[in-house]
Amino acid sequence: MTSAEKIIAALDLQSREEVLEVLDMLPDVRFVKVGMELFYSTGPGLVTMLKDRGLRVFLDLKIHDIPNTAYGAIKSLSKLGCDLLNLHCAGGLEMMKRARDAVVGDTKLIGVTQLTSIDQTVLNEQLGIEGTVEDCVLHYANLAKQAGLHGVVCSPNEVSMIKTAFGPSFLAVTPGVRPHGSHSQDQKRTMTPKEAVQAGSDYLVIGRPILASPDPQQAFNDILREIEVAS
Ligand code: C5P
Repeated sequence: MTSAEKIIAALDLQSREEVLEVLDMLPDVRFVKVGMELFYSTGPGLVTMLKDRGLRVFLDLKIHDIPNTAYGAIKSLSKLGCDLLNLHCAGGLEMMKRARDAVVGDTKLIGVTQLTSIDQTVLNEQLGIEGTVEDCVLHYANLAKQAGLHGVVCSPNEVSMIKTAFGPSFLAVTPGVRPHGSHSQDQKRTMTPKEAVQAGSDYLVIGRPILASPDPQQAFNDILREIEVAS
């Protein structure tokens, strides 16, 4: 895998036109993420268009429902030919197993452990989950592994723990990546691109540090160089 393929650029945008503009600005991007904001406004055709352009696509819709509905959702989405799809581990083992059964083709299904915007206080005081964030992430990752998922979404801080527990081929996809000097915004459990790669992240999901930069191409290339040196 090339370093450029390790960076998943989050297309947190509203329209197809904005996507085309951004892709023109970022000719070296190889892997993109379509989240709820973009998918809900443009629909499945956008994924097909991105695949037709030769891009790899992570469809980040974080499915979380009863097992039968999760099965149907993953069945519909995986037919689009996306490379990565996800669902919330908090939906439980049966939901994850049913969803895994629905995957067709080469799509890889990964489980969201705890959002990188959740910190220790929110976990304990608002979500009512006892223990540390790491305990919870490990527990959810264990369920994902048992369900036959291909890996998890977690913070870069938790990658080495996940790889030690579940082996190198269990994917660790990490948002919460912030280059030195950039704003953490709503992300709480962050690392730099270099640290994330050194920790063993397979893919770095990066949105605002690229798209909200005054020069997105420069921002992407700076991250790429940082990763190349770290790999
Ligand atoms: O702009 P930023 O780099 O924070 O974007 C991170 C992206 O990763 C967002 O699109 C967000 O929805 C997504 N994400 C996340 N935490 C997760 C899963 C996905 O931040 N656990």
